[in-house]
Amino acid sequence: MSEARVGFVTQGAAAAGGDVDEIGVGMLGYAFMGKAHSNAYRTIGYMTWPPPLRPVLVAVAGRDHDAVAEAARRYGFAQAVSDWRALIADERITLFDNSGPNNLHAEPTIAAAEAGKHVLCEKPLGRSAEEAYEIWRRTAATGVQQMCAFNYRFVPAVRLARQMLEAGELGEIYHFRARYLQEWIIDPQFEMVWRFDKSVAGSGALGDLGAHVIDLARFLVGEITDVSGLTRTFITDRPDGHVDVDDAFESVVNFENGAMGTIEASRLCHGRRNAMTFEINGSKGSIVFDLERLNELQVYLAGSQPGPDAQGFRQVLVTEANHPFWEWWWPHGHIIGWEHTFVHEIHHLLSAIAGNGEVRPYGADFEDGYRAAEVCDAIVRSSESGRREEISYRSL
Ligand SMILES: NC(=O)c1ccc[n+]([C@@H]2O[C@H](COP(=O)([O-])OP(=O)(O)OC[C@H]3O[C@@H](n4cnc5c(N)ncnc54)[C@H](O)[C@@H]3O)[C@@H](O)[C@H]2O)c1
Repeated sequence: MSEARVGFVTQGAAAAGGDVDEIGVGMLGYAFMGKAHSNAYRTIGYMTWPPPLRPVLVAVAGRDHDAVAEAARRYGFAQAVSDWRALIADERITLFDNSGPNNLHAEPTIAAAEAGKHVLCEKPLGRSAEEAYEIWRRTAATGVQQMCAFNYRFVPAVRLARQMLEAGELGEIYHFRARYLQEWIIDPQFEMVWRFDKSVAGSGALGDLGAHVIDLARFLVGEITDVSGLTRTFITDRPDGHVDVDDAFESVVNFENGAMGTIEASRLCHGRRNAMTFEINGSKGSIVFDLERLNELQVYLAGSQPGPDAQGFRQVLVTEANHPFWEWWWPHGHIIGWEHTFVHEIHHLLSAIAGNGEVRPYGADFEDGYRAAEVCDAIVRSSESGRREEISYRSL
């Protein structure tokens, strides 16, 4: 597709005629992810025209009646309910979106799948590999479409990286080096939230941030066979409670295909707002990605023209009409943002539900959610044992 056609002259063009089927959406949770997902459902309906299915926001569930009613009004859901079971019982709902905290992933997601609804569940899939496996096993048995919301697979630059790796442009992969750093809980006076409570969250920076990067390691490089890990809690007591999850972790990972890597995450890094970065080095080149500059991919291709005196990393602006997902957006250089990863992700799921393609390999399904959880668990085991830990993955 030429840039001129898709870029400056095609905005608002009708791409197809005919009806688009609707899909009823029920969502659990209406805060951070609830807002991001709601924004995506609404945007898909007009920006990706014609969408695979047109989302209809049927009902949203929370605990507090007034607050969830306000969220329904704000996001455009027709109804607010204060028990998620009402979503499961609602036959107008075909897609169940679980944007609740980690302790609410298993029961509602399994119940929705067993009621015949397609399911989108936020990451980490479970609080442990055991719980994630159970969600995968029970959901897979129903035959519904399932997706674990690893949205960073849907950054255009990350998909481009995957395409380059699939095409062998980096050659044999030697290194994957990734870190995900935030700072938002560095104040010891920051109040207890569910993310500090192991019974709700399962783990800290590991499941919250590390799971994303572990998924990208698998998505881009391959399966992880064994790990060495170190987890740490620096601030164990908050004003209103005790923290029993990790603040940070470091790990050294081994890939099945012979690559080696490091993965780390922390929520105690002054100056790092949402700093997820990775670098991949192969026999033919390197790529570097920085989430805070998500429209860009740095690429170094050994031996490329104009030759050794002008060699170096080039900064590719991933906004060309033929770049991943750009058919829905703007003329090149008119950049997109973090929230658009959810548009791409949910569009991908709706396509699979509509019978046009599969969730895997470009999206993460519940097996991917489970496999990331096995790596997280192995990092915890290694930190406790002081030894490298092998990972054995279960199948259905
Ligand atoms: N993909 C991403 O980039 C990303 C980013 C942040 C969070 N997450 C994941 O999304 C999930 C939600 O995180 P968040 O940041 O939106 O959390 P949050 O605390 O902002 O929101 C949680 C929501 O769940 C609701 N809730 C809690 N208990 C409930 C219950 N019993 N019944 C009904 N609703 C209930 C809360 O009212 C709130 O609306 C977590 O699993 C988290 O790991 C993913």
